[in-house]
Amino acid sequence: MDTVVVYESMWGNTAAIAESIAGGYGDGAVAMTTDKATPAVLARARLVVAGAPVHALNLPTDATRESAHAKDSPGHVPADLTHPTMRDWLATLPAGPRWYAAFETRIVGPLGHGSADAIAKRFSAAGYEAIDRPHSFTVTMRQHTEAPAAMLLPGQEQHAFEWGIHLRHLVTHTPELE
Ligand SMILES: Cc1cc2nc3c(=O)[nH]c(=O)nc-3n(C[C@H](O)[C@H](O)[C@H](O)COP(=O)(O)O)c2cc1C
Repeated sequence: MDTVVVYESMWGNTAAIAESIAGGYGDGAVAMTTDKATPAVLARARLVVAGAPVHALNLPTDATRESAHAKDSPGHVPADLTHPTMRDWLATLPAGPRWYAAFETRIVGPLGHGSADAIAKRFSAAGYEAIDRPHSFTVTMRQHTEAPAAMLLPGQEQHAFEWGIHLRHLVTHTPELE
């Protein structure tokens, strides 16, 4: 595997975007949760793509995840809190050099940013190089969905698939980092 797409996701929206990015990238890319993307797995990757939802203008915390989980109701998909937060995963990031790309899922509007920039900052501090600018994928305001990934606005998975194709092109035409 030369590309790992690691994600945090409560209702499956960021997970679906991660799967689409890996799908667009094609052979050699695998999307996985934070607990699967161990340092041993990363050691074999040329490119690490990481994404998380925006919670309160930043990466989710245990507290923001719990507050959302507390509002779970019957008939809706329960929030998945079984994997470590992206924030905790980034705290254990092995040092680069290696290529990275960051993304987030968010609502449209002034409150819709924060996670991708926070991810980028952490990768950069660990000695990784950005292969592309951070990307955002948009969802509706609705927090409780009746099916996984139902918050994504139309066209977002296609947009993610196309970004995956583009990332493959960039990796193929970019020299290895020393
Ligand atoms: C506690 C909480 C706070 C949120 N705060 C923001 C925010 O500040 N800006 C934003 O754009 N979206 C915000 N959202 C919406 C999330 O970005 C949205 O739930 C997420 O993209 C869904 O992805 P997931 O299904 O992968 O968790 C918030 C959601 C929750 C649960």
